[in-house]
Amino acid sequence: MKALLFLGLLLLSVTVQGKIFQRCELARTLKKLGMDGFKGVSLATWMCVAKWESDYNTRATNYNPGSRSTDYGIFQINSRYWCNDGKTPRAENACHVSCSELLQDNISQAVKCAKRVVSDPQGIKAWVAWKTHCRNKDVSQYVRNCGV
Ligand SMILES: *[C@@H]1O[C@H](CO)[C@@H](O)[C@H](O)[C@H]1NC(C)=O
Repeated sequence: MKALLFLGLLLLSVTVQGKIFQRCELARTLKKLGMDGFKGVSLATWMCVAKWESDYNTRATNYNPGSRSTDYGIFQINSRYWCNDGKTPRAENACHVSCSELLQDNISQAVKCAKRVVSDPQGIKAWVAWKTHCRNKDVSQYVRNCGV
């Protein structure tokens, strides 16, 4: 009985938290999905952005009261411009994706949308975490010993 309760709580917490990637697991996955060097952004830089935007948590969400928009997933993609959450004023949905799809354990949709974001003229500057934590920094630590 206790074991069942424990299992239930464990499953519940997994459901709520989603997938939190291990550092090297994410590095390998991003590489497989073609992020290394995409639009000139190194894999280590993408890893730095993911670290500081979501701490590698696929279910991370953050509400922005000013624009009444929400940032979703491992790259904290914003619902004002990129995805549809059905509640953001003047949303554009440039990635043509439901924001909830950006929270899946399978990050292929989140990566696809991040590629769309970085393809705009502003490029990697779209991510505040890049400016504050990754720009002009040694980012090699984010892929160290990952064999990527
Ligand atoms: C992740 O989703 C994509 C489609 O969005 C699919 O092609 C791929 O096989 C999935 N990967 C895994 C590991 O399930």
